[in-house]
Amino acid sequence: MLKIAIITGSTRPGRNNEAVANWVCRSAKERKDAEFELVDIACYNLPLLDEPMPPLFAQYSHDHTKAWSDKISSFDGYVFVTPEYNHSTSGALKNAIDYLFREWQNKAAGFVSYGGHAGGARAVEHLRLIVAEVMVATVRAQVLLSLFTDFENFKAFKPGAQREKELSTMLDQLIEWSAALKALRSEAAEEAAVAGE
Ligand SMILES: Cc1cc2nc3c(=O)[nH]c(=O)nc-3n(C[C@H](O)[C@H](O)[C@H](O)COP(=O)(O)O)c2cc1C
Repeated sequence: MLKIAIITGSTRPGRNNEAVANWVCRSAKERKDAEFELVDIACYNLPLLDEPMPPLFAQYSHDHTKAWSDKISSFDGYVFVTPEYNHSTSGALKNAIDYLFREWQNKAAGFVSYGGHAGGARAVEHLRLIVAEVMVATVRAQVLLSLFTDFENFKAFKPGAQREKELSTMLDQLIEWSAALKALRSEAAEEAAVAGE
């Protein structure tokens, strides 16, 4: 069974992120074609990147990095739930991504974003470029939530009627691509084993 992580994108006290990520997780868990788990970056207490070696070498010196690496390697795909901060994703999510390299490689991702008039679209455009560098393939369909219409008073999350359908379309694409890339990862693992790595 494919395993998909729903990754939070905000560590801010009073964040809207939690309600959105919980909604994604609840809805996803009704599906039978993959397993879903909420992964809250706030629980990993990652400081600003403090590893002496670049993540490409996977030589981690801190327990927080090892715990984050173990968690992220255990998935086939990811849903990033991102707010829009200054037309980009959050520094906290960028930092959490920067910590690792191989753990993300040859996997797929989809996005759920929220923000003002653009629904977090600009955050996702940046995030697509960021995860491309760690070799994550991003699906086209995405869920854009408006603080004006999908939240009451910018706080209480009440997603519009069409949002479930949009989420389902994104998850359909994510599961297909996560499954396709699994074959590539098995091939790479076999080659590494033959080379004695
Ligand atoms: C530092 C900061 C910058 C923001 N910049 C934008 C922005 O560029 N575009 C936008 O639509 N909303 C922006 N917002 C509003 C956030 O999208 C909104 O506050 C959202 O709830 C933040 O997510 P969070 O509550 O989960 O942390 C910004 C909020 C913060 C805190």
